[in-house]
Amino acid sequence: MSVLRAPGASILLTGIAELTTNDPERAGEDLLARVRDAAVVVEGDRIAWTGPAAHAPDADERVDLGGRAVLPGWVDSHSHLVFAGDRTREFEARMAGQPYAAGGILTTVTATRAASDEELRAGLRRHVAEALAQGTTTLETKTGYGLTPAEELRAARLAGEFVEEVTWLGAHVVAPGADPGDYLAELLGPQLDAVRGHVRWADVFCETGAFDEDASRAVLLAARDAGLGLRVHGNQLTPGPGVRLACELGAASVDHVNHLAPADVDALAGSATVATVLPACDLSTRQPLAPARRLLDAGASVAIASNCNPGSSYTSSVAFCVATAVLQMGLTVAEAVHAATAGGAAALRRTDVGRVVVGARADLHVLDAPSVTHLAYRPGVPLTHAVWRAGVRAAGG
Ligand code: NIG
Repeated sequence: MSVLRAPGASILLTGIAELTTNDPERAGEDLLARVRDAAVVVEGDRIAWTGPAAHAPDADERVDLGGRAVLPGWVDSHSHLVFAGDRTREFEARMAGQPYAAGGILTTVTATRAASDEELRAGLRRHVAEALAQGTTTLETKTGYGLTPAEELRAARLAGEFVEEVTWLGAHVVAPGADPGDYLAELLGPQLDAVRGHVRWADVFCETGAFDEDASRAVLLAARDAGLGLRVHGNQLTPGPGVRLACELGAASVDHVNHLAPADVDALAGSATVATVLPACDLSTRQPLAPARRLLDAGASVAIASNCNPGSSYTSSVAFCVATAVLQMGLTVAEAVHAATAGGAAALRRTDVGRVVVGARADLHVLDAPSVTHLAYRPGVPLTHAVWRAGVRAAGG
């Protein structure tokens, strides 16, 4: 299989037993709008054609995928990858019964501040490559372990070297030693000013022990005024105002959503805000699993993401999250795969990724299996055969 081709050359991928397109125009009974015995033509970094192999046009090159399933690359819309240090002990303590608390974040703040740019780059490089090798072709990541204007700017710049969606999370916790009122003023002024040219999104950890409703609202409004899109960590550890606030302010996504009142579910169902569930985090913090089934039944849009970070969810495996959503949260395989591809794209307000349609970026995840069902049917088995990102084979055989 060749990956080096002349600029502008087209490539025809055949031998696709099942192609998940997520094409809204093809979606009828099948949420994933799958095509059996399919083919895909890639031109440059874009999808140029999809359909039954029997009708495929000619191309400059051909690759036979040998009867495998192909789906869009994972769109992982929630991670915290600008960090240094290790929290193995905290994890062990949790597995021995200690509760997860927002305070653990400060351990990573200390280690991250002490790390050099090169050390942080090495971590980013390693984790982004690890995710790509498992099929993740679009990745969001957050700042939030710096908590000063200079450190948050450093984190935003470094993140931007490795991922395409960068989120400012200065409102992760109050910086160590700072007065909460003074820190809020810093967030609204110098910190936002420092990062605004370097991030697309702003996020707030709206939670007991982090930021209350008033402070969260103030940060989100200031960020919106500065032209940033909004995201919220909401209702993770306790019931609270996060979901309501996210819906009211038109946030693209509210993430975690473990502790929901009926009014929160209604608010999500009646809004364009995506509810992003983080199954690996729920397991690793021993929180009740987010009610993804209830959200879908109510009509809310749901995304699944890894929340890869050193504290609450140290995995880059979206496949693990998809399998957990199916096996433990009551989603069908199609719902879970959709949530981790098209759902993640919606949470990032993107239509160029998360689907295999003409004009989309050619991000393809080839499984060593004939259908996406194997992602849950064979949990824990590394099923990624190859990954194509922007028309180039980026990982695998
Ligand atoms: O999404 N909830 C807040 N922030 C992260 C946790 C980060 C950490 O524990 O270091 C999360 O789970």
